[in-house]
Amino acid sequence: MINAEGTAGALIRYFSLIAAVQHNYQCSAPYCAVLEVGPTQVDNDPMLSFSSSPSRIVLGVTGGIAAYKAAELVRRLRERHAEVQVVMTEGACQFVTPLTFQALSGRPVRTSLWDAAAEAAMGHIELARWAEHVLIAPASADILARLAGGRADDLLTTLCLATEAPVSVAPAMNHQMWAHAATQTNVDTLRARGVRVLGPASGDQACGEQGPGRMWEADDLAAALFSGVENGPLTGKKLVISAGPTREPLDPVRFISNRSSGKMGFAVAAAARDAGAEVTLIAGPVMLSTPRGIRRINVETAEQMYRAVHEAVVGAHVYIGAAAVADYQPAAYAPQKMKKTSEHLELHLQRAPDILASIAALERPPFTVGFAAETNDVERYARDKLTRKRLDLIAANEVGVDRAFDRDDNALLLLWSGGRRELALQSKDQLAREFIAVVAERYRLTRHPLAALVPQAS
Ligand code: C5P
Repeated sequence: MINAEGTAGALIRYFSLIAAVQHNYQCSAPYCAVLEVGPTQVDNDPMLSFSSSPSRIVLGVTGGIAAYKAAELVRRLRERHAEVQVVMTEGACQFVTPLTFQALSGRPVRTSLWDAAAEAAMGHIELARWAEHVLIAPASADILARLAGGRADDLLTTLCLATEAPVSVAPAMNHQMWAHAATQTNVDTLRARGVRVLGPASGDQACGEQGPGRMWEADDLAAALFSGVENGPLTGKKLVISAGPTREPLDPVRFISNRSSGKMGFAVAAAARDAGAEVTLIAGPVMLSTPRGIRRINVETAEQMYRAVHEAVVGAHVYIGAAAVADYQPAAYAPQKMKKTSEHLELHLQRAPDILASIAALERPPFTVGFAAETNDVERYARDKLTRKRLDLIAANEVGVDRAFDRDDNALLLLWSGGRRELALQSKDQLAREFIAVVAERYRLTRHPLAALVPQAS
């Protein structure tokens, strides 16, 4: 959100011209998708407990080296007072013995659809009804394919077809297998059917390679299961959020950027997830780890962000543009490092695409929310932007020295046609929750005006 005016020379005052240093952050053209990366934390906030916690869990264990982590998971679930019935596939039994799970869960493990004695105790249909949640961890590429295909060729798949309980999967596999189009299509199919996909995380793999494919740690899986949001204000809604700055390269070592840290956008993404939304986060170069359960796409330039947002927004209900996108980009890119040959240097800049305005101008736009960072006359400029860019809602804040950028706290003024709400200075995490609550309310009233007449369930 860089507002540049005047000549090219004057423009440069607004930009920090930074020699690119090697950050951990990496991104290759055109842009790269990173799925479910990063450390996680347990949300203990009672405000987030929208659903009752499952107390009867069927834990499906499939064939993969991560099966050993499922043993720890049983303990984490039992610590939360859940009854855990383990169901293992044939492949899983090659990695860990059923006896291990029996000892930890205190229940005989089910491995076969054809075990007459076990079926007599609790048949597979009864088991499907008994479950308040089915969690498959680790979920191999094979189980994802079989679930997506609606197979019922062993106890676990049969159970998943027969149950009315929510199903979650924690994928774990080699990163190439995870990235394969077949697996991704299967995951999309499962997501579309309401299956929660928890992970995978990125990092070292048992095969010695690196990448997304590691099963989430037991603690994180247990936490995710017990903070499941089935009746959140954004449950069933797809949200796309852009966050962080963009970098506009001048030559291979220099770029124009701004001071955005991405903290507000990341906090908004986490708050939207906690409100039940399925969140895609399009992130410029920031040093932040991905909030748990969020699909992240890394980009670098305004052009890349434009393309990534337009792709992600198809079928989305809400778009929140929280990124500090460059307003201007170098008109030309020098393929070799520019030399300091003269006393003065003039840079020619041209307008970067306005992502937010282009989304709002779509034939069937999602509920579109913008941010306005202003140094003065905040409300007047923000309201003008709301109208000019045809937004549903705008979140304005005052920026300047020691304000908003790269800080952990912030305040917002929310404006929409005919209304306003001030959100006081507070931590960005808490502020993001209040902000998302207003977004959900405005979305509901705008897209479903009759909802205004119906009292909301608490
Ligand atoms: O006009 P201004 O840049 O101040 O508007 C800020 C809002 O517009 C933010 O939501 C920002 O993400 C979005 N924006 C954009 N593309 C640009 C510039 C700003 O989406 N090129």
